[in-house]
Amino acid sequence: MSFEDARAHCAACIQSKLDTHLAGLPTSAISQGMSHALAGGKRLRGFLVIESARLFGISAETALPVGAAIEALHAYSLVHDDLPCMDDDALRRGQPTVHVKWDEATAVLVGDALQSLAFELLLEADLKPAVKVALCSSLAQAAGAAGMVLGQAQDIAAETADRELSIEEITDLQANKTGALIAWSGCAGPRMAEGDLGPMRVYSKALGLAFQIADDILDVEGDATTAGKRVGKDAGAGKATFVSLLGLQGAKDRACALVEEAEAALAPYGSKADTLRQVARFVVSRDR
Ligand code: IPE
Ligand code: IPE
Ligand code: MG
Ligand code: MG
Ligand code: MG
Repeated sequence: MSFEDARAHCAACIQSKLDTHLAGLPTSAISQGMSHALAGGKRLRGFLVIESARLFGISAETALPVGAAIEALHAYSLVHDDLPCMDDDALRRGQPTVHVKWDEATAVLVGDALQSLAFELLLEADLKPAVKVALCSSLAQAAGAAGMVLGQAQDIAAETADRELSIEEITDLQANKTGALIAWSGCAGPRMAEGDLGPMRVYSKALGLAFQIADDILDVEGDATTAGKRVGKDAGAGKATFVSLLGLQGAKDRACALVEEAEAALAPYGSKADTLRQVARFVVSRDR
């Protein structure tokens, strides 16, 4: 199977897992908003879960609820990221954002419900109870006030800071905002197999940073129709990004160096990790 076919197959499996859950919910603006927010997306984090699991001998079937869980958590973060009090965006995944299609209260609650759904999905996986506890605990940490939520707060604070952030501060911000959930996804495989997290930690940390740098580059060079979201917004909003600090070429060079770092971390796994190497290259070559 080609890389693109594998990615598409994984995305279809995740969508069908999410659809099954959504079908069991009472029909309401919340369930409809959840369905709307979950649709589309590249499913990069879910794919990382499935592929890191495969590397550690865990089947895609076993890993599927875990991949669906991180996509639910990620979708929640996007619904809240787009709110008027955050980035104030009207377009996401080529569709109107939840607060535009419904209203702000619905968008807040849709995000809340998607976060709950993530933990419900994790607990459903056919894995040992101790492994599920480890998955839930590590996801709670990655998503919360020491991870994604902290990074979002740092991102918003940087908009009104009276000085430019240093490279160390931007790296820390991005590692929290985007890196924490991507790192969790890459470590899900060894966590499920109770294996060594070391190499996947190094891989997914570099990958997460490369991913957010690519997102910041897309904001400058990308096309809204292809990206499915507004572009050209970061500079105007005073966002602290690698592009704002290093310039476009500097940011591209940094992203490429990180991809090399990510690929090097996979050396212990030999050719078994080829798909994850392709993921690293995809992250910086994507146009959406
Ligand atoms: C967008 O993430 C938000 C960031 C963390 C930069 P993705 O680019 O993975 O968004 P989808 O899931 O494909 O829509
Ligand atoms: C979003 O980062 C990160 C999270 C949702 C945690 P951005 O604000 O850069 O993402 P886009 O550009 O709106 O997709
Ligand atoms: Mg944001
Ligand atoms: Mg945003
Ligand atoms: Mg962005």
